[in-house]
Amino acid sequence: MSTENLLNELQMAQSLVYALAEDADETTYRSQYHPDLSPLGWHLGHCVFVECLWLHEKVRGDDSVTAPIADFYTPPRTPKPQRSELLPRQDALLTWARELQDFNLHFLAKLRPEWAAHELMQDDYLLHFLIQHYSQHYETMLMVLTQKALAETTTDGIEAAPLEARALNPERVEMPGGHYRIGGEPPVAYDNEVPPQRAELGDFAIAARPVSNAEYLGFIEDRGYQREELWEPDGWAWRNHSGVVAPDHWRRTDAGVWYGIGMRGPYDLAPDEPVSGISRHEARAFANWAGARLPHEYQWEAACRTGVLEQTGRAWEWCDNTFHPYEGYRAFPYPEYSQTWFDDRHYSLRGGCLHTRRAVKRPSFRNFFEPDKRHIFAGVRLAF
Ligand code: AVJ
Ligand code: FE
Repeated sequence: MSTENLLNELQMAQSLVYALAEDADETTYRSQYHPDLSPLGWHLGHCVFVECLWLHEKVRGDDSVTAPIADFYTPPRTPKPQRSELLPRQDALLTWARELQDFNLHFLAKLRPEWAAHELMQDDYLLHFLIQHYSQHYETMLMVLTQKALAETTTDGIEAAPLEARALNPERVEMPGGHYRIGGEPPVAYDNEVPPQRAELGDFAIAARPVSNAEYLGFIEDRGYQREELWEPDGWAWRNHSGVVAPDHWRRTDAGVWYGIGMRGPYDLAPDEPVSGISRHEARAFANWAGARLPHEYQWEAACRTGVLEQTGRAWEWCDNTFHPYEGYRAFPYPEYSQTWFDDRHYSLRGGCLHTRRAVKRPSFRNFFEPDKRHIFAGVRLAF
């Protein structure tokens, strides 16, 4: 993509994040709706801070914008529960953000030669990075709005079209063993996708589609949540501790019909749509119930590259393996993007969800979360 197109993409990504903070009322702007999710306003401030950090502090050597706000917008330095209170007023933050976003776009469009020579600017690396960073926070802001809807939607007397359980779709793709190319290339790829790897895979089979809502209901109705033998020990402990009996956004009418709650309120669960809102613990219990397992992320990527995976990019897909560095990994541009999370507690997810921007949807993209997270629009595809 040309630099001009990338600047347009950046402007679009900036506007999306800005608009979510702008459209929110003051309470929504400031509230923390989930223990893992910062307020909407913090996301906008953080994205603008990160943009200024690389552009002005690192490339230009001027920290006058970033130094005073670094503690607030650098995640480990201000714990999430403090962010609501410390957030600037909405109108003040919006004005500040808009001015800097405009200034930064202009700065990038007319980059002086001495700055263009900076390592971060090579092959438009920083433009790609910033577009993806905004895009990821945009998706997280939609998680915030979903959690707000879950907390606030009134469901008295609601009616829904019945969702009926269906048997598992048996369509699967047989993948021959061999060497497969895994990973991406700079300047688009994140540090955790490079260097490209040659993975040796044995024969495997992978489902053509992710598990659907109707298939997942089959697990629920077969008492999947009540049968300890289907769960891994850590999953069963989590299940009992959390009391979870259905995906995060599933609710039941008085007549016992399951429906969903999304950002725009209640809706009928489409039977063929990939299930989402499940933790990796639930994904594994479902796989055990189905006599299957989760795919390794290399299997997922190999299958994806051959074009055989249907319905990718509708729900993130939990993988079997932990998030780990590829051979030859080098932290870039900062260790806290990936390296901090190679902790054997985070697992890889692949594919993307309906809210994922195109800039972060590619066969090599690796998402990563802890196995109990269920607010992240994740589902599961089976492997065999
Ligand atoms: C890869 C989605 C887990 O949201 O914490 C955003 C992405 N990293 N800013 C996150 C990220 C730095 C990250 N996830
Ligand atoms: Fe970030």
